[in-house]
Amino acid sequence: MSNVLVTGGAGYIGSHACKALRAAGYTPVTYDSLVTGWRDAVKFGPFEKGDLLDRARLETVFAQYEPVAVVHFAALSLVGECMQDPGLYWRNNVAGSLNLIEAAVASGCMNFVFSSTCATYGDQDNVVLDENSPQQPINAYGASKRAIEDMLRDFEVAHGLRHVIFRYFNVAGADPEGEVGEFHRPETHLVPLMLDALDGKREALAIFGTDYDTPDGTCIRDYVHVCDLVDAHILGLKWLQDGKDSRVFNLGTGDGFSVLEVLEQSHAVTNRAVPYTEGPRRAGDCTKLVSGSQRAVKELGWNPQRSTMKQMITDAWRWHQSGHYED
Ligand code: UD1
Repeated sequence: MSNVLVTGGAGYIGSHACKALRAAGYTPVTYDSLVTGWRDAVKFGPFEKGDLLDRARLETVFAQYEPVAVVHFAALSLVGECMQDPGLYWRNNVAGSLNLIEAAVASGCMNFVFSSTCATYGDQDNVVLDENSPQQPINAYGASKRAIEDMLRDFEVAHGLRHVIFRYFNVAGADPEGEVGEFHRPETHLVPLMLDALDGKREALAIFGTDYDTPDGTCIRDYVHVCDLVDAHILGLKWLQDGKDSRVFNLGTGDGFSVLEVLEQSHAVTNRAVPYTEGPRRAGDCTKLVSGSQRAVKELGWNPQRSTMKQMITDAWRWHQSGHYED
């Protein structure tokens, strides 16, 4: 079986990707520092503990496994944190990715799948966001991901590193079989925080801003089920293995949900109302981020089947009630 190096394979999206990779016949080799990931989430292939900033360790792992491709998830990704400490984001995300990309090229591994973000587009109200939209990030997280996209393009020109870049919109849901799920410490994401508030694990959810220029005043996001999201990565990997050109794809459904609408949907799924308070805006948050692109559907043959809000909350709620990882 072909090895695929999965950085961040112990994290939320990376662990779901490892499951999908194994189901598709690859051996996912997780490379993860466990700073934000969980050893218990590595269930589908070998585990190599390591930091992206450790170039020698990366070279050892490339030499040992000779992966056919890299799928690069490992990153810091919190909007609030990146506004407080941008250096952390430039060092870990940008310098770390440079190490990884150089190590991949040096070892002859020339297929690279990269998780980028809609945060690279920034705040562009009332604009349909497709892959050709200008990238004007308003937070250091988005800026760090845009820099890595640029890096990949330069390394393709100079060294032939072929890549697929996925710009994710907001990811939610969990493995319906309950083997892996979303678990962050500390938790900052809307859906798990909302579920915590629902079952009394924390006090009311604070809504970050109710004075945005949206119909109900709260931010609008485009939510994608994590299983649909990782399916696109398998298609992206095959795209590269088929020798197709490097390409950028948005991964979103085109449907926007405000924070209040997500809360309403979760009430409908769980029969419980989420207690909430109305708080101030969070620095770095965009008003509305919704994908306006069908490129992944048309070109990759992506077929997102679980990305209704109801299904995402149902799967997240099941995981929330039964699954978690040990420290
Ligand atoms: C951000 C990134 C996204 C990235 C994700 C990963 C942007 C624009 N988006 O998503 O690309 O994949 O981080 O971490 O940078 N909210 C509340 N109360 C809370 C928590 C969240 O009201 O306690 C609201 C936020 O203001 C936002 C929405 O819920 O409107 C979703 O927030 P969150 O789950 O943190 O994700 P993003 O910040 O949108």
